[in-house]
Amino acid sequence: MEIQLWRSILCPYELAVKELEVKFTHIIEECKENDIYCPIEQVEGRVKSVSSILEKMQRKHIPMEKMEEELEDIAGIRIICQFEEDIETVASMIQKRSDMTIKSEKNYLKHIKQSGYRSYHLIIYYTVDTINGPKKLQAEIQIRTMAMNFWATIEHSLQYKYKGDMPEHVAERLSNAADAINALDHEMSSVRNEIMDAQNSSQMQSNLVKDILINIENLYKIANKREIMKIQDEFLRVFRTKDLQQLKRFHRQLDIISEGYRAQAVYHHV
Ligand code: GTP
Ligand code: MG
Repeated sequence: MEIQLWRSILCPYELAVKELEVKFTHIIEECKENDIYCPIEQVEGRVKSVSSILEKMQRKHIPMEKMEEELEDIAGIRIICQFEEDIETVASMIQKRSDMTIKSEKNYLKHIKQSGYRSYHLIIYYTVDTINGPKKLQAEIQIRTMAMNFWATIEHSLQYKYKGDMPEHVAERLSNAADAINALDHEMSSVRNEIMDAQNSSQMQSNLVKDILINIENLYKIANKREIMKIQDEFLRVFRTKDLQQLKRFHRQLDIISEGYRAQAVYHHV
């Protein structure tokens, strides 16, 4: 392969990373819209740099023409979750998707690496449409908790600093930190239900308030001013109580009022 072809080879991988980022991030939006807990907290993506590609090919003695086949992580997506339990949920979501197929899996949660590294990896096949037609390529998806990501990020920087020759005392500190991270994930899992409840209520409240305000805005155009003022005052009172049940009740009442106005409008129209 010619060196000047790098850019055109990497181009479809750029597209794949962008598309995958959009698709996984959109799952977060979908969950928010539907008031359900989202197993995905954050999505990151990157195309491997030319220098990392070259380094890996030299390290693994991969010839140029085998690059795309043997380097499975030219396109890389990282999905960060809040809880360890979410990792499995995300993995099964990926498995059910029609736009990607799983080639292989590496479970570093079950089989923790010597370094202390924990994460769940999938290699997928994904097809992008280019000006030269469809191109099926591979991408690596790393799924891990925020805590695991914290550890891996720090450890990666240190590995880079020591270039594979990490002093024993640093490696030991990192190994202790990995144990602490593991314990933290378990501790967080034990309060998962309560945290999820709290987050769902907060999302639900935010969606309700958004809906109510749209409703009031629409009513403003058709209802009389005095009634609108009354509705507004009542909304502020209910909002101040911070009581989700009251907010739901108010939302329903407002719907009925709006419905009444709509019916009237239709009646006047005919
Ligand atoms: P490379 O490690 O990239 O050569 O790939 P591999 O074919 O050996 O696969 P592996 O599953 O070991 O690693 C894939 C990716 O996981 C790496 O590129 C890293 O991003 C991450 N990873 C694997 N092991 C470690 C580790 O010990 N520490 C950190 N920080 N990241 C790791
Ligand atoms: Mg490796």
